[in-house]
Amino acid sequence: MQSKQRERLHVAIIMDGNGRWALRRGLPRVAGHRAGVATVRRVVEGALDLGIVRLTLYAFSSDNWSRPGSEVQSIFWLLRAFLRLEAERLQRRGVRLNVIGRRDRLAKAVLREIDRAESMTAAGSCLHLCVAIDYSSRDAIARAAVGVNASLPNEISRSPDLFRPLLTQALGAEGGEVDLLIRTGGEKRLSDFLLWESAYAELLFTDRMWPEFDETDLAAALEEFNRRERRFGAVPTNTVESVTSTV
Ligand code: FPP
Repeated sequence: MQSKQRERLHVAIIMDGNGRWALRRGLPRVAGHRAGVATVRRVVEGALDLGIVRLTLYAFSSDNWSRPGSEVQSIFWLLRAFLRLEAERLQRRGVRLNVIGRRDRLAKAVLREIDRAESMTAAGSCLHLCVAIDYSSRDAIARAAVGVNASLPNEISRSPDLFRPLLTQALGAEGGEVDLLIRTGGEKRLSDFLLWESAYAELLFTDRMWPEFDETDLAAALEEFNRRERRFGAVPTNTVESVTSTV
């Protein structure tokens, strides 16, 4: 891996390509999800190593409920197992885990593992790992907007940042401004993920299927990010200089 970088970055990942990875190998789709969990472990280690402070993973979108019941069951089985088996290691590694998304449609057994993992890791200060489950950005924004009626609509329209606490409430945990959004699996879309939080995110799409993605790919993504110029709607610094020099 290339030399360690120290970045205080929020990296969000749409983990796509598990199913195709498996089918290409003549395996059932669930084998791709299982391999995807191994990638999650690798990428969490990579994020710690690279000094990323926040990592948000899109594990299950609200639209994923429309998948065959057996696949949904397998994904939740894997998620539960991950939370149950990894919480202690995450705690040791200084990782704080939170789940964002709707909780009212999750099974009690899943909710129990989420609560346990969140409280066990609450003191983690090296990396904030957010796992998006039953997550829909539009849904979160729409539910947060309902709160605007009751709370200062004029102030919020003047300063959209005041909307953030309402969104945090709708998500169950803070979404956080995204610096770099990565999507594996070759598709180039956002699929209702962190739409508000990614307003100024750099986007990176890779053809690697999620089970193939590793720390080296994450490090390469950060290098690509470092080559980008983030302007947040302003003009490049040297442009300002040349304009002022001609005034
Ligand atoms: C997308 O691949 C992946 C998912 C919908 C599920 C992701 C879940 C995991 C990696 C397992 C659990 C996660 C954690 C955080 C432990 P796809 O099935 O849409 O792939 P395809 O586009 O090739 O069909």
